[in-house]
Amino acid sequence: MLKRIDIGRDYKKHEEEYLEAIKRVCVETAFSGGKYADIFDKEFAQFLGVPYVQGVNNGTSAIHCALAALGIGKGDEVIVPANTYIATAWGVTYTGATPVFADCTADTWEIDPKSAEEKITDKTKAIIGVHLYGQPFEYNEIRRIADKHGLYVVEDCAQAHGARYEGKMVGTLGELGCFSFYPGKNLYAFGEGGAVSCKEKKYNDYIYVMKNQGCNVRYYHEMIGYNYRLEGIQGAVLSVSLWFLHEWTRRRIEIGERYMREINNPLVTLQKHPENTEPVFHLFEIMIAGDPDRFLEYMAGKGIECNRHYPVPCHLQKAYADLGYRKGDCPNAEELAGHCVTLPLFPEMTDEEVGLVIDSINGYKG
Ligand SMILES: Cc1ncc(COP(=O)(O)O)c(C=O)c1O
Repeated sequence: MLKRIDIGRDYKKHEEEYLEAIKRVCVETAFSGGKYADIFDKEFAQFLGVPYVQGVNNGTSAIHCALAALGIGKGDEVIVPANTYIATAWGVTYTGATPVFADCTADTWEIDPKSAEEKITDKTKAIIGVHLYGQPFEYNEIRRIADKHGLYVVEDCAQAHGARYEGKMVGTLGELGCFSFYPGKNLYAFGEGGAVSCKEKKYNDYIYVMKNQGCNVRYYHEMIGYNYRLEGIQGAVLSVSLWFLHEWTRRRIEIGERYMREINNPLVTLQKHPENTEPVFHLFEIMIAGDPDRFLEYMAGKGIECNRHYPVPCHLQKAYADLGYRKGDCPNAEELAGHCVTLPLFPEMTDEEVGLVIDSINGYKG
């Protein structure tokens, strides 16, 4: 069975480098934060081209930290796309603020600036744009709206390491950028990991203290803190992975573009990738006409595992039932949730495997 994603292939290829890096951390017992987490912060900042990166324990914490650094809290509202992984909204909820869900566009499947603007109230403090599936959202328009209403823009880059918008790397556009290094992300740790990128020292310094139990100086707690540090082993593994990221991205783009060119089944709708963006194909999502489960079964019968991101949009999740959303509130996100399917895509896929996926899809009759 061809897996939807198989990170074991990367491990087999680079086992020596990974184990060597992990061993160094163990020998030096630099386990929590510390030298190897700090080295990765600097390397990732250099990769992005920003002055500051704070590694944290996961991408959800990254969003929480970014919003807290902006002073967002109880009584505030933050606009979040309805079609994202739920953790984007968790980050808002953890601050005490309320997520307000905006629809996506019908073709790019990214946050719809028009819908976002309609959701602004006098309580709104920020818009979180998510570069979903590795496709940069329409930043300029979101920025224009944010500036018009005096709002911050936070980027959720959990699925888009290295993607570019008008030539600029995502994570360098808004006030802060939030990354996840969950296993299977374009850049991933051997466990949990995340980071916040920013250009302003004040945000960086706030997050440093926040993630570090509220301390700048050990045992002197300046604020209510969190234990959100990046582990040393994850920092060391991420430094190794960062060597390979360019090659992985190149291969993801090669596979993604081949899918775009060669999938021609009229039952399939592909995501639109605007000219001014350079997506990195974290997830290759399609919309399938009819019942997606039937398609998943068909693909499984061909020896291909697919899954779905995401079958229920955030505004209709039970966890947020108290917010009072109804079916029909974000129609494009609901349509996407009803028909989306994720195809296998990872850098170590062979050309034959990519061909098998394409031929199988093109042979699907519904
Ligand atoms: C869009 C998005 N935001 C946030 C997160 C949260 O990251 P983590 O799982 O590292 O907490 C993820 C990870 O799955 C994600 O895909």
